[in-house]
Amino acid sequence: MIPTGENLTRDDILRWLHEPDEEKLQMLWDTADRVRHEVVGDAVHLRGLIEVSNHCARTCRYCGVNAENKAVERYRMTEDEILSCAKRAAEYGFGTVVMQAGEDEGLSGKFVAGIIEKIKTLGDLAVTLSLGERSDEDTGLWKEAGANRYLLRFETSDATLYKKIHPDRGARVSNRIEQLKRLRGMGYEIGGGVMVGIPGQSYDTLADDLMLMRQLDLDMIGIGPYIPHPATPLADRSLFPELVKGVQALSDETTVCKVLALARLLCPEANLPSTTALATINREAGRAHGLSRGANVVMPNLTPQQYRVLYEIYPSKAGIHETAEIGMDAIRAQLAALGRSAGTGYGSRKHTGE
Ligand code: 5AD
Repeated sequence: MIPTGENLTRDDILRWLHEPDEEKLQMLWDTADRVRHEVVGDAVHLRGLIEVSNHCARTCRYCGVNAENKAVERYRMTEDEILSCAKRAAEYGFGTVVMQAGEDEGLSGKFVAGIIEKIKTLGDLAVTLSLGERSDEDTGLWKEAGANRYLLRFETSDATLYKKIHPDRGARVSNRIEQLKRLRGMGYEIGGGVMVGIPGQSYDTLADDLMLMRQLDLDMIGIGPYIPHPATPLADRSLFPELVKGVQALSDETTVCKVLALARLLCPEANLPSTTALATINREAGRAHGLSRGANVVMPNLTPQQYRVLYEIYPSKAGIHETAEIGMDAIRAQLAALGRSAGTGYGSRKHTGE
């Protein structure tokens, strides 16, 4: 029996992260799948993703839409465009709409609050925000307007690596872990998570990342591979060298699935998406592997075609040239093949201990 929850130690985690044996790994996948089934059930919650703006004030070293990438054509969706995507989510029967963007002050606190209020009139939809490190004033306003959840990956628990890849925005020091705690205090369900295989990230760091996910008691955890974007500083190996072989965390599918499966064991009640980045590094089976190794959420992309091609946080993103309809057909077929059903209702984080 593989220990779970409080009984899984950091040493256990490290051993799994280094485990090469496919038969043993099958035990990890099976255990994560069983815990997922027992604790959060077989429903796969669908969250309609709307990439509302690719403007960004930050210069995160890995991200294709960071402020210094002048080659990106920038867009910001209008209120009507956003609401028509949200309507589509309601029509598809999704329980949640996710508004994601770069850190874009052009999306003013009031503008976003007004949209949240209007989305709430379209149907019984939960609203998740993923809009970067915004002020407490803005996130407070959005909570009052009815927002339910906030996604802000902490990316790495290694403070030195974090600083290296997240330059501060002027006087605004980047501290996502502290911000997540404040967001929880405001009443949001909070989502964190990491990229796997960042140059300079070790397996020890990944073990610490996983321990931090449990410590923060995250409601949602996003885990995907780091995918180098050629127009970003992090893609330049001379600026950001990798650690030596065996210490540097790989960004391959197996390593991502290990982190995902371990997150399920450590945080059994959390909502875990099978991410688009995972589907990008294995187009045939990445999403299905995520769903059968711990994940219980998928985020179908509802962003209009003309904008989604511009939301290039990493290259060759899965689904970037598809319409929302085609993407949904593929997801329905994958769920049917796995014998899983689409969730109904908000699909909020479970609290089994209460
Ligand atoms: N590779 C993989 N994931 C990335 N993200 C941003 N840039 C990349 C990249 N190059 C992820 C970050 C961010 C989320 C919205 O997208 O983890 O939090």
